[in-house]
Amino acid sequence: MDSFIINGGRPLSGTVRVHGSKNASLPLMAAALLTDQPLILRDVPDLSEIRNMTRLLGTLGCEAEQGGAEPGAPDAGGGDRAMTLHVTDSSLTAAPYEIVKTMRAGICVLGPLLAKRGRARVSMPGGCAIGDRPVDLHLRGLKALGAEITLDAGDIVAQAPGGRLTGGHVFLGGPSGSTVLGTANVLCAAVLAKGQTVIESAACEPEIEDLAGLLIQMGAKIQGAGSPRLIIDGVEALSGADHRVIPDRIEAGTFVFAAAITQSSITLDNFPTDALGAALDRLHAIGVDVTPKPTEGQPFDRHRGSVSVTPADVLKPIQVFTQPHPGFPTDLQAQIMSLLCLADGNSTITEKIFPDRFLHVAELLRMGADLTRNGPSVVVTGVGELIGAPVMASDLRASAGLVLAGLAARGTTTINRVYHLDRGYERMEKTLQTLGADIQRVNEADL
Ligand code: EPU
Repeated sequence: MDSFIINGGRPLSGTVRVHGSKNASLPLMAAALLTDQPLILRDVPDLSEIRNMTRLLGTLGCEAEQGGAEPGAPDAGGGDRAMTLHVTDSSLTAAPYEIVKTMRAGICVLGPLLAKRGRARVSMPGGCAIGDRPVDLHLRGLKALGAEITLDAGDIVAQAPGGRLTGGHVFLGGPSGSTVLGTANVLCAAVLAKGQTVIESAACEPEIEDLAGLLIQMGAKIQGAGSPRLIIDGVEALSGADHRVIPDRIEAGTFVFAAAITQSSITLDNFPTDALGAALDRLHAIGVDVTPKPTEGQPFDRHRGSVSVTPADVLKPIQVFTQPHPGFPTDLQAQIMSLLCLADGNSTITEKIFPDRFLHVAELLRMGADLTRNGPSVVVTGVGELIGAPVMASDLRASAGLVLAGLAARGTTTINRVYHLDRGYERMEKTLQTLGADIQRVNEADL
């Protein structure tokens, strides 16, 4: 297993390009199951989670071919990389436990399989480090389209009567708002269903808007993408498509926080300003500014433009509530907590999506942070400095928060088990090295 060793306190400078979005790519890849024609996806990041999805699709008769720049090539940014997905055997309908248990997003093959092949057997994903993560809303939505669903030996077994789903009215709101992958599943199921489907309380996340954009390009009839009300008129068949994945708003946000916590100015290309409204608002309140860098003679591209980050002299304390999009994303909660550890006063962070997603709290305490947790809220009392320490967190974003803390801390921080980070950040240490950080990847056996 690999670890990161970070010698903190180095300012960052320079420019990096934000990669394509992991959480957009996963359901986009699953959508390849909806067509017999090739689907080309551009700028899919090179991550372990994506490789797992490729393996899962392989077990379902959908082959993946990589083109363009080699995965792992020195930072060409990945923008010219293309993945072609093509179904060669549509008789396979079982998503095995061995793969789904490693990746919760495996659940997003359920809707496409049911829509195109009329049946599916997908292992029920278990809980994970950030919470129980039920899938009741996914199943409720698919049942409203006529699916017959049972549970057998830990697998969800679903069938479309007569081989085809029928449009229906679906409400996808749960105790914490809508569900992102649940919306992806029901949307993919509805595009090939007979008749009209209305999804109320649909997730408005940019990743769902991107999925709807791809499906429309494939021939689906969808209105309301990006809003809580989706209207889908089912079609008989979908074609292939060539689609560029949106930039990863969470990776983008993480690098803004990296600049902010090291009091550095950096430039980020392929930056999704519009998708990060709440995070940019909170950063502005803290005193950190992210400003457009328009290319001469062209209007600023709010989806993929270049921005510069200007740090604050003094970080102001603030309140943060994580919420479904367009609210502040739960996937940036750990990162903003690390930053607020160095603010001048008391901040409060309340987690409204995953109330137990605080694995980073105990580790930040080991680095000298002053944090008091009370249920889904944490009071963050600013301290003068963080102090390097060996730390570990078994959640992707918690680990990202710890890397940021390590970049700012006095002394050496060792982040263990970075395979959690590798699930969601493409060679994070390389990107940070490009910006001048003192960070190395080492094998734990060599420590
Ligand atoms: N929920 C239910 N029932 C369901 C589904 C969800 O009650 O059937 C609840 C969840 O327990 C949670 C809330 O609804 O409280 C939202 O969960 P959601 O279903 O939206 O999460 P998800 O779709 O499984 C995606 C991202 C997560 C991100 C969440 C919230 C992917 C692959 N994953 O998960 O990303 O935190 O949305 O924005 O898109 C990450 O990248 O680190 C990550 C965990």
